[in-house]
Amino acid sequence: MIKPDGVKRRLVGEIVARIERKGLNIVSMKMVKIDRNTAEKLYEEHKGKSFFNELVSYITSGPVVCMVIEGDEAVKVMRTLIGSTDPKEASPGTIRGDLAMSKGENVIHASDAEEKAKKEMSLFFSQNELTG
Ligand code: PPS
Repeated sequence: MIKPDGVKRRLVGEIVARIERKGLNIVSMKMVKIDRNTAEKLYEEHKGKSFFNELVSYITSGPVVCMVIEGDEAVKVMRTLIGSTDPKEASPGTIRGDLAMSKGENVIHASDAEEKAKKEMSLFFSQNELTG
């Protein structure tokens, strides 16, 4: 998911190009404004953490671009491609390493496990939007 700062900064094309150039397939893609209820479900594992409210306010602050990405070991490859959560520590050449500075506003989210990917897909896509 390209987060609100990525959309506001007009980085959608840049980020999509990097994913495609890597050799992953974008199976489905849509721009949405996330409501509070969906944001709380997306980030439910962080409920109770000091930054939870900030995280929910931020992810609902503007449109995001949701993508379903397919490929060999797609979860692992995407996590490598995006870089560390804290962009100041993310390696140059990664999306966060090259394009962001703040741990909160770090331009992109990617599922960190296959089960999470399935859950997150179901929050934003219906079954008939997933047949690539
Ligand atoms: S944790 O506690 O280690 O599990 O959290 P972490 O993996 O570092 O971050 C989880 C997601 O929360 C976002 N985050 C923040 N948002 C706003 N403010 C602050 N201070 C902050 N710290 C972390 C971070 O970008 C992660 O978002 P996703 O979308 O999962 O990458």
